[in-house]
Amino acid sequence: MKNILVTGGLGILGRSISIKLSKNSRYKIYILDKDNSKKKIKTLIFKSNVKIIIGDFTHKKVISKIIKDYNINDVIHLGATTQVLEAFNKPDLTYKNNLFGTINILECIRKSKKNINLIYSSSDKAYGELKKKEYFENFPLKGDFTYDVSKSSSDLIAQSYAKTYKISVGIIRSGNIYGPGDFNMDRLIPHVIISCLKNKKPILRSNGKLIRDYIYVEDVAKAYISLMQYMNKSEEKLKIYNVGSKENLMVIDLVNIILNILNKNNLKPKIKNISTVEIKKQKLNYRKIKKDLNWEPKVNIYDGIKETVKWYKKYLKLFNL
Ligand SMILES: NC(=O)c1ccc[n+]([C@@H]2O[C@H](COP(=O)([O-])OP(=O)(O)OC[C@H]3O[C@@H](n4cnc5c(N)ncnc54)[C@H](O)[C@@H]3O)[C@@H](O)[C@H]2O)c1
Repeated sequence: MKNILVTGGLGILGRSISIKLSKNSRYKIYILDKDNSKKKIKTLIFKSNVKIIIGDFTHKKVISKIIKDYNINDVIHLGATTQVLEAFNKPDLTYKNNLFGTINILECIRKSKKNINLIYSSSDKAYGELKKKEYFENFPLKGDFTYDVSKSSSDLIAQSYAKTYKISVGIIRSGNIYGPGDFNMDRLIPHVIISCLKNKKPILRSNGKLIRDYIYVEDVAKAYISLMQYMNKSEEKLKIYNVGSKENLMVIDLVNIILNILNKNNLKPKIKNISTVEIKKQKLNYRKIKKDLNWEPKVNIYDGIKETVKWYKKYLKLFNL
């Protein structure tokens, strides 16, 4: 048996990873999340090898107790303040959650003196503004804006724990994740889909020209699980991978794809262009993970968006704009 702690396990990525892990009966999954809203729980049916613990990882005691009581072997640390705008408005709380929350987890692992593997969910935003054609894993981490810096600094600190205290650390820097189970209405794809389903024009906070990698959540979940399995076999203490996409799209082009799929071309988006604190262009090179773990994204944007739309249609009543 393997006991796996997934922080932020009720988020879009955490639920997908937990569902996939739970298919293996040798795994017991402990989800730690502070969000106890009935809305989220309603949309989830987990197998009996998944236990949900409502709690906050910024409290060290919560983490150390879980590690001890459930004899945790692997931690997948996903929980974070994930909204760029929320981070912009609340930098102190964002750093407390993302930076000090990560340090808490690393400290609890260090003090447990057990061989616990940690996977930290970093981001393409940790690299900061793209100066070359694409980001490679050996590029310096140079976030400028609040969320981005919270990721650059936590990523570096996780690396430091691997190098200094020989804790086994895996880091995944992924592009923009989309798919079923996203409750963050500030994110582009949920906002556009829900707006269209409610027959309203979507509102874009950017000028529509930002460029991002968009990647389906199940592809990302597979990358995390492959890395976890690889770390269990490997002696190396630090593994870092970009998890990118074949689809590197401009916001407005992605919006048009969604409008087309939903047959709502009449709902042309309103462009607000209020976002001045965002990186303009991002693109991840993912050759390294392809070579080492034989991972590459499989779901194309059309199939991914169709699956996502199905999910929002099913739970439409849970969402207000
Ligand atoms: N979604 C993306 O596009 C994307 C891209 C790159 C990296 N990431 C990173 O991947 C990770 C997962 O992202 P997501 O999209 O699933 O996020 P999400 O916002 O959907 O979920 C995050 C979850 O973490 C929980 N959480 C936050 N603070 C907590 C705390 N102190 N204690 C316990 N639970 C807490 C929230 O309640 C939420 O359920 C994050 O670290 C994020 O920065 C996400």
